[in-house]
Amino acid sequence: MPDLLQQLRAGLTTHSAEETRSLAERLAHVLPRNATLALHGDLGAGKTTFVQGLAHGLGIQSSITSPTFTIFTIHRGPIASLVHLDAYRLENDRQIDSLMLEDFLITPYILAVEWPEKIASWLPETAWHFSLGITSEQNHFVRLDKSAA
Ligand SMILES: Nc1ncnc2c1ncn2[C@@H]1O[C@H](COP(=O)(O)OP(=O)(O)O)[C@@H](O)[C@H]1O
Ligand SMILES: [Mg+2]
Repeated sequence: MPDLLQQLRAGLTTHSAEETRSLAERLAHVLPRNATLALHGDLGAGKTTFVQGLAHGLGIQSSITSPTFTIFTIHRGPIASLVHLDAYRLENDRQIDSLMLEDFLITPYILAVEWPEKIASWLPETAWHFSLGITSEQNHFVRLDKSAA
């Protein structure tokens, strides 16, 4: 499956939300069980859609939504648990420290972060950075910009 990572590094266009989900689902199968994913992209780019696919790939049954009132949610799964963090409303490093998320930087927790720019200095050096965006209407792109592997 290293093919998938190569394709992601080159950048992939998806033509529906479902296609973005299945892409993320395939990625979930090759991710280390302690991976941190920094999902960069504007509102509507497909970050949450991508996390839905990750969850599915990890065998997680609970539904993934945009956390409006919560900063993060934990979804337990049989392979790994998925921690979904929306950093949008975080203002500074102290706020992220108070969440004590360090506990989720280890196996078997996969941490997926929306608006990672907000907590850039907190993110581990080994984080996988993705850019997501809209090309046109249903066409969105996903690109892996940096990964530890
Ligand atoms: N190819 C695509 N990939 C991802 N989402 C798409 C695509 N085409 C249309 N969409 C729609 O775009 C929206 C993306 O929203 P969302 O995943 O919540 O974005 P974000 O979390 O980045 O704000 C969803 O309504 C989704 O159905
Ligand atoms: Mg979102």
